[in-house]
Amino acid sequence: KRPVGVPDKGLARTVGSVGVVGAGLMASQLALLFVRRLKVPVVMTDLDDARAQAGVARVHGEVDTLVGKGRISHDEGNRLKALVTGGTDHALYAGADLVVEAVFEEMSVKQQVLASLEAVVRPDCVLATNTSSLSVAEMASGLQHPERMVGFHFFNPVAVMPLVEVARAPQTDDATYATAFAVGRQLGKSCVPVEDAPAFVVNRLLIRMLSEAFAAVDEGTPPDVVDAAVRPLGLPMSPLVLLQLVGPAVALHVLESLHAAFPDRFAVSGTLQKVVEARQPGIWSWDERGKPFLSEETQALLP
Ligand code: 3HC
Repeated sequence: KRPVGVPDKGLARTVGSVGVVGAGLMASQLALLFVRRLKVPVVMTDLDDARAQAGVARVHGEVDTLVGKGRISHDEGNRLKALVTGGTDHALYAGADLVVEAVFEEMSVKQQVLASLEAVVRPDCVLATNTSSLSVAEMASGLQHPERMVGFHFFNPVAVMPLVEVARAPQTDDATYATAFAVGRQLGKSCVPVEDAPAFVVNRLLIRMLSEAFAAVDEGTPPDVVDAAVRPLGLPMSPLVLLQLVGPAVALHVLESLHAAFPDRFAVSGTLQKVVEARQPGIWSWDERGKPFLSEETQALLP
């Protein structure tokens, strides 16, 4: 087994064109980061043209916000917007040096997308996954060239969070791993080399904290008491506020993966399951002055 470690940067390939698969929130945040920092063409695809164009429009809107804040000039904003395009056909990735998938967090869906990508991309194109908890090795196992697959895990909000976990599967070759690191650095992120283990490193800690917060809620401690108790620890966000940022469905999915891998260490919270089933955006709602409160819908889900 090769130890993970920071690879020789001389092995990195140049990335002059990027693809993002998916055009949802996370994918749009990734597309914005790539176009802003690398200033290269970025193609987004989704299942239908309406979703793909909505993703492109979201990126354009974020570029306009940066122009509005005076972070970039009007001309630069127009140049960046022209670099972002969308569609449905994976053949649009034919010229890409790197394609990052950010589609639904389900192994079979990801494997299907990757097989479809492999049929159209160049032989030296790196295929990266932004999965938060699935095995990169298993994802790569159906590929003809699994050595070009790497885990590239970003955090919410992508523009602000300084970290990327770069996960090396046993199949990942040195050039692929070095390219992911080089790109991560060009994006202005700190890249950490991690094993291809369930939920890598960060989510094991974050989701453990979140699941313990939910365990307290499951036992009857009110959410405001849980969050207030944790506040003196100095975290940028209390756990039940963080839930809103991550999204309850994503948090539950990672928790279920961790429970499957380490049943003694990660319990699946009944309250979190109810929040997801009820399609609530989280525990807290915020009034117009930004003050958190528990909506009637959420209160009904609490023990
Ligand atoms: N989306 C985009 N940008 C955001 C944002 C959001 N949701 N929230 C804040 N920002 C931006 C603001 O626009 C501002 O940018 P600017 O300086 O360019 O104007 C900057 O962040 C700072 O914002 P604020 O001053 O309003 O807020 P804070 O100083 O309180 O910081 C925070 C906000 C960075 C979100 C901070 O609360 C934080 O670090 N929270 C913890 C986030 C975290 O733990 N993320 C990891 C989640 S786990 C994950 O993503 C993995 C997945 O696999 C589950």
